[in-house]
Amino acid sequence: MSLRHRDLTLTELMDDPACDPVRLAATYRRFGLVNRLVSGWGTVWGSRLAPALRALDRPARVLDLGSGGGDLVLRLAALARRDGLSVSWIGADPDPRAHAVAVDAAGPGIDFVCADSAELLARGERFDAVISNHVLHHLDGDALARFAAESRALSMGMVLHSDIARGALPYGLYAVGIAPLAAGTFLHTDGLRSIRRSYRPDELAAALGAGWRVGTPVPFRLLAEARGDA
Ligand SMILES: C[S@@+](CC[C@H](N)C(=O)[O-])C[C@H]1O[C@@H](n2cnc3c(N)ncnc32)[C@H](O)[C@@H]1O
Repeated sequence: MSLRHRDLTLTELMDDPACDPVRLAATYRRFGLVNRLVSGWGTVWGSRLAPALRALDRPARVLDLGSGGGDLVLRLAALARRDGLSVSWIGADPDPRAHAVAVDAAGPGIDFVCADSAELLARGERFDAVISNHVLHHLDGDALARFAAESRALSMGMVLHSDIARGALPYGLYAVGIAPLAAGTFLHTDGLRSIRRSYRPDELAAALGAGWRVGTPVPFRLLAEARGDA
């Protein structure tokens, strides 16, 4: 098996509308721990998002696009409270199965909506920042271009899309490290498929095009950054 190229033939078990709903809900809930361990959002919060929100000098509204089970919004809301920032958090996901898990987990200052980026734009929604986690590798070609453009059109400030960076080392580490956390979930199969579908930094920069900067703020991760044009 080579990781030289993205493997676009793979689909994730959780993307099957007929997949086991109990395993799916367990997968969304377990993302809370997995994302905390691997996603690097603590670093991105401290180095990018928190300073930008603080500079507004007023309460902010932040959108997490493709919020899944909602764990990233919950974590960032806790970091904002810790840092004394007033933020309304909105997690949006068009998948009703993800939305149901997120709504169960919602807390103060957090709203989850069952909608995609195009629907939010059509409603005239605008935010001080738009973020996502683990969405880009699901998208190719026109779908990626549309998601990138819509995320910028929804933001009056920064846009930050975080994802896995494809590579043999993260693949091997994930295969071993996920074993104790994967029982009853799709995390083993889908995580490895995600890595094989993911971009390398130069590939993502080329796919997103002008206006985007792609970096690796923490090991094995990509962060695509742009200015919103709302
Ligand atoms: C793998 S999940 C990531 C969930 C979560 N962010 C996480 O890190 O665990 C990708 C999610 O993106 C959502 N999605 C795909 N296209 C979207 C769009 N245009 N707007 C909002 N959500 C989208 C899908 O419904 C799916 O739930």
